[in-house]
Parts: sequence; C-alpha cells; structure tokens
Amino acid sequence: MKVVVLPGDGVGPEVVREASRALQALAPEVLLEERLLGAAAIRATGEPLPADTLAACLDADAILKAPVGDPEFDAADVRPEQGLLALRAALETFANLRPARQDPVDVLIVRELVGGLYYGARGVREDGTVFDTCEYHPREVERVARRAFELARGRGGRLTSVDKANVLETSRMWRRVVNEVAADYPDVEVSHMLVDNAAMQLAVRPESFDTIVTENMFGDILSDLAAAVTGGLGLAPSASLGNGGPGIFEPVHGSAPDIAGLGIANPTAMLRSTALLLRHGLGREDEAAALERAVDRALESAPTPDLGGSATTVAFGDAVLAAL
Ligand code: NAD
Ligand code: IPM
Ligand code: MN
Repeated sequence: MKVVVLPGDGVGPEVVREASRALQALAPEVLLEERLLGAAAIRATGEPLPADTLAACLDADAILKAPVGDPEFDAADVRPEQGLLALRAALETFANLRPARQDPVDVLIVRELVGGLYYGARGVREDGTVFDTCEYHPREVERVARRAFELARGRGGRLTSVDKANVLETSRMWRRVVNEVAADYPDVEVSHMLVDNAAMQLAVRPESFDTIVTENMFGDILSDLAAAVTGGLGLAPSASLGNGGPGIFEPVHGSAPDIAGLGIANPTAMLRSTALLLRHGLGREDEAAALERAVDRALESAPTPDLGGSATTVAFGDAVLAAL
C-alpha cells in the first residue's frame, strides 16, 4: 500500500506532520511518499503540479493532501490552487464528502468537485469583459447525485439537493437529473432548496439537515459554513472520491497564512481526513474509528488556540498518539 503525502503550503507541513505520525502508528506497513504541490512546487519547479507528483498520485492507493495557497502568488499567472484543481481533474474525484458533526448536528455535504464554474470556459472578451462559465453535462450531475443517494441511504435517509433553479439553467437541469435518479432510491426522501435559503438554514438550523448534494461552488461555500457551525474550520475533514481510483483526503480549510509558522494550527481536520483515508482509501475501518476516537479525546485534553485552548500543533499530535 502506498500513500502519497502532499504537505502543501502555509500550515500544511505543520498539520500533515501530525497526520503522518498517526498514520504510521496505525498502519506501519503503509509506505508514505512525499511530493510537492502548490506554492512549494512552484518555487522548486515552476509548476504547481509537477509531472512526478501527478505520476506518484496516479500510482498511489490514496493521497493525503494538506492545504495549498500562498498570498505571494495570489495575483500571479501560475498559482498554487491550479495544481490542486488539475490534480482533482486528473483523478476525476467528482464526489467531495464534507462531513460536519457536533451534537446535535450531523450533516454530510456531497460537493461536486470537478465541474461547474471551476472548470468552465473562461477568458477576456475584446471589450475587456472577463468571464467564467458554469457548465455541467447531465452525466456529471447524475454520477454525483447517485453517489449522494447511496450515502444518504446509509445515513439518515434524507437528501437535500441545493441549487439556484430560479435563476440558472445548470440548476434547472441539476434538479431534473436529481429527480430522475431519485426514482432508483424510493427509500431516500429527497427535497430541493435554493442556495441562499440553504445558507440561512445551515446558519440557524444546521441540525435540520442530513445529507446535502450540490454543485462545486455552492459546496465550497456551504462547507465552510457547515464547519463554522460545528466547531470551526480547524475541525472539518473531507474525502474527494472518484470511481475506484485513488481518493484525495484533504481538510476543508486553507493554508491559514495568518498563523503559518507559529506551530498553533489545529491538526484535527488533517487527522480526521487521515481517518477518512484509512476508511475510504485503504479499507481500514477499525484504524479509522480508532483515530477518530483518539482525536476526540485530544480535543478534550489538548485543545489548540482556535478552540480556546493553548496546546501547540505538536502537543495535540502527541495527545492523539497517546490516546491511540
Ligand atoms: P483559510 O481556511 O486558510 O483560513 C481562514 C481562517 O481560518 C484563518 O483565520 C485561519 O487562521 C483559520 N484556520 C484555518 N485552518 C485552521 C486550522 N487548522 N487551525 C486553526 N485555524 C485555522 O482560508 P483563507 O485565508 O481564505 O485562504 C488561505 C489560502 O488557502 C488561500 O491561498 C486559499 O486559496 C487556500 N485554500 C486552500 C484550500 C485547499 O488546499 N484545499 C482550501 C481553502 C483555501
Ligand atoms: C477547498 C478550497 C479550494 C476549492 C481552492 C483552494 C481551490 O477552497 O478545497 O475548499 O475552492 O475547492
Ligand atoms: Mn473552500
């Protein structure tokens, strides 16, 4: 078994170090191979996704990815985030699972990850108008909808499809396809919600949701909100899955440049992403559950500053290892 580790940028190397330690303790036979992605890769090679990083990822059983992004490249032509988007596209990880849990809230956002505004036609017209295009083929909607119905079936049995069907053509098609797929899942209760209302409901009644399926950009925004109402960005993991190929396991949060290098980033999201890697990427349910329990105990005994505590990133990682 081989896991490619992408330490990324900002707090990435700090949080991924704790995740690698836990992974090695739980699955010592798994080979960890480190590669560059993002700003670190641009500095070393000029490219955000170097060919040898992509080759290693394609050959891996799973990918443990820390956040990428660096303010230095925000306005550059070659940007760290392009490497991440290219990696997701190359691995066709169309279903991004973003669970957010804190009693009584237990919501799973299934975010479409390789289509929509992020990948549509873009450019500058002669008159100077700049455009990005939201594009979806019905097949792209169907595959993520099907995955979301399967996941909803294994949870509370309720699926909310979030769109902007009162304005967007892509959303009206999205709604139609979700309804067609729903016929194959009579045991799942499906409903539709407009994205502005969904954001409001998530903020004030997050416990009313079970499983949410939505397009790429809406899912990006709603998943930060879901993280915020369940303890914060430092806690929120994700799994980016395709059809059988290696998945990418990555926190919802970014490279947190405001606290990078201080040794105080909360590694929980990275550690919980590692648990998702053990579960979905390596089929190791027992180890995944053990890691999740250990993280929950460390959250009690060694909270980091974002949670009102004073533990360092390394101290939190130590507490996790001690609780394994
Ligand atoms: P961010 O998620 O990095 O940070 C938002 C806020 O949350 C900051 O105050 C930060 O300190 C805090 N925070 C985030 N993670 C934390 C953690 N683990 N522990 C404690 N506090 C934490 O969002 P941003 O500042 O908008 O983005 C910074 C960079 O990250 C940008 O370049 C962006 O493109 C990139 N980004 C990357 C990913 C990814 O690789 N998947 C995700 C989101 C953003
Ligand atoms: C995320 C991030 C990425 C996204 C960026 C860094 C491209 O915000 O994983 O949520 O928007 O998908
Ligand atoms: Mn995001």
